[in-house]
Amino acid sequence: MRVLGIETSCDETAAAVVACDGRESPEILSNVVLSQIDEHAAFGGVVPEIAARAHVEALDGVIEAALADAGVSLDRIDAVAATAGPGLVGGLIVGLMTAKAIAAASGKPLIAVNHLEGHALTGRLTDGLAFPYLLLLVSGGHTQIVLVRGVGDYERWATTIDDALGEAFDKTAKLIGLPYPGGPNVEKAARDGDPRRFAFPRPLKGEARPDFSFSGLKTAVRQAASAIAPLSDKDVADISASFQAAIAETLVDRVSRSLERFHREQPAVAEPVLVVAGGVAANRAIRTALETTCKRHGFRFVAPPQVLCTDNAAMIAWAGIEHIRAGIEEPDAMTTAPRSRWPLDTSSIPLIGSGRRGAKA
Ligand code: KG4
Ligand code: ZN
Repeated sequence: MRVLGIETSCDETAAAVVACDGRESPEILSNVVLSQIDEHAAFGGVVPEIAARAHVEALDGVIEAALADAGVSLDRIDAVAATAGPGLVGGLIVGLMTAKAIAAASGKPLIAVNHLEGHALTGRLTDGLAFPYLLLLVSGGHTQIVLVRGVGDYERWATTIDDALGEAFDKTAKLIGLPYPGGPNVEKAARDGDPRRFAFPRPLKGEARPDFSFSGLKTAVRQAASAIAPLSDKDVADISASFQAAIAETLVDRVSRSLERFHREQPAVAEPVLVVAGGVAANRAIRTALETTCKRHGFRFVAPPQVLCTDNAAMIAWAGIEHIRAGIEEPDAMTTAPRSRWPLDTSSIPLIGSGRRGAKA
């Protein structure tokens, strides 16, 4: 089985072909990701209108490249899977309409995929994980812990009550004069900094509820920065290091709640797994902290390769394959509409302010 995946929910135009034959492990035949970072950098963040136009211009070429890299033509593809949400609606329309056109012209089925499901199932593509396992999704638009019970069967255990973690990195970077995207630049600056110079808060630390909060941390950074402005390179490094230390400590505390819950509720799982996804998973300090926490709680820590943690179309193609293998009945493909909001766990209530930006997943 070969599936063409298309991803356009934010600022990456992506297409990929993933194959899976019988019992063999799946194979990523191609994975093309065109980042729009340069087009948005001058604005300090993703501009939806620019993103949608850039997807229109790039998508055909990216799909052609994905097919060429995979060495297959459209008639050797069994289905087309495209992200239908959540994300920026302009980009979603571009990707989904293109997928519908390809499906209609080639007579192949169309699978409308939830972008978050792509992230949630990546650990099965890369590491063959068995259900159930825990997913920590930390990206520019989401910060969630999800129990992945099966294909289409997700339970959200924790979410942010304000900013997403990547958003906190990006806003902090902006406050201290580091360029967009903030996360990697904060991490780089933190390398030479003193993590003990600023005593930033550890939001919700010690609380029984498992959720996340980052906006207070950002406010504390703003206050510290304005108190010592103008900032020297050393100040920027120290703020970055202190911020990152606060984040790592907060994550460890928050994630531990869900690891403990998993042990309580899933005692039959012999080798519990926490898999991480999203751009923030690239952060070394955070990875190390999570690795240590998992070890302490008897969990295996799985971090897929960086290109498959950040937004890509291989995860969308893979989610399509999972749908087909699980026999999930797809809604009428041609009338499927893009959804800017689309929670993985439809029974979970949105928490105050969470996912406000709703743009990135
Ligand atoms: O998953 P992603 O590529 O895109 C979506 O949000 O969908 O994640 C991007 C986010 C940005 O907020 C970026 O600043 C953050 O991930 N990020 C990082 C690092 N690399 C990317 N945050 C902290 N440390 C990093 N090394
Ligand atoms: Zn994403």
